[in-house]
Amino acid sequence: MTTIQSLGVVGAGQMGRGIAQVAAMSDYKVQLFDISKDSLDFAMSFIEKQLNRGVEKGKWDQDFVKKTMGNLNPITDMSALGQADLLIEAATENKEIKFKIFQQLDEVAKEGAILATNTSSISITEIAAVTKRPEKVAGMHFMNPVPVMKLVEGIRGLETSDDTFESVQKVSENMGKTFIKVNDVAGFAINRILMPMINEAIYAHYEGVATCEDIDTGMKLGTNQPMGPFELADFIGLDTCLAIMEVLHDGLGDTKYRPCPLLKKYVLAGRMGRKSGRGFYVYNK
Ligand code: CAA
Repeated sequence: MTTIQSLGVVGAGQMGRGIAQVAAMSDYKVQLFDISKDSLDFAMSFIEKQLNRGVEKGKWDQDFVKKTMGNLNPITDMSALGQADLLIEAATENKEIKFKIFQQLDEVAKEGAILATNTSSISITEIAAVTKRPEKVAGMHFMNPVPVMKLVEGIRGLETSDDTFESVQKVSENMGKTFIKVNDVAGFAINRILMPMINEAIYAHYEGVATCEDIDTGMKLGTNQPMGPFELADFIGLDTCLAIMEVLHDGLGDTKYRPCPLLKKYVLAGRMGRKSGRGFYVYNK
């Protein structure tokens, strides 16, 4: 198995900063890369705030915060990722952007380094194919919020080697996560099941079955989910939900994955959920 001591995380957005935080808390040295210095500054102060909140709650002490922050190195120069044993990409969920990043990572990463992606829907096999090391590429799909959710969905591309897959499983487990093994099929396992549930809730509302509030209350109290499907859709982002439904519809070709017209309309209107201040619900920005 490849020994992993240092990590590089690409993208300091919501997912990237969460992955970097949990890795640093698990005592990995982490280079957190983003092209935007502002995003890096925001991510570092967000992580520090989260860690300090843990001190107030008595989960850990100030020394742990200091040590964790010391494990994190924010960088805007991609070549510094060349030291890392494992690079985890968590950039924008866009095929062309990911392909470009993987070509760059393949150039800067040291020989033998593993390249992982946190993609929620893009084919691992296709991402791997733009590199010269497809056997060293795997999917590590973390859930939002990363510090809270216990799962990593491990995705095996066509060429992913056993060594690579076992190595990313070990790192996930060292980060306190449970790793499930999934093959590279559109939507993988979690979103193939979660997104049609959300889409179906939107159809039910669209067809006048019940209000968003009543469906959310019903699903929370009736099936013990922490968030109802509309709250969760707003939390994930309606544009992301739509993009994943489109991947399922195109990739699996079954009309049961057809995105609800209401979801499409909301995205066209700019109602993206929490991040834009309005989705199915209205939020204070
Ligand atoms: N970052 C770090 N920690 C957070 C957090 C965040 N953004 N949000 C909440 N937390 C922590 C809190 O600090 C708190 O910790 P303690 O229990 O140690 O005090 C804990 O989570 C609970 O938080 P709250 O009491 O504030 O709120 P809550 O009880 O309503 O829980 C929630 C919030 C954890 C988000 C919960 O509602 C939940 O589990 N929701 C479902 C989330 C989910 O399904 N995520 C998966 C989305 S799908 C995905 O990510 C994949 C994809 O490809 C789209």
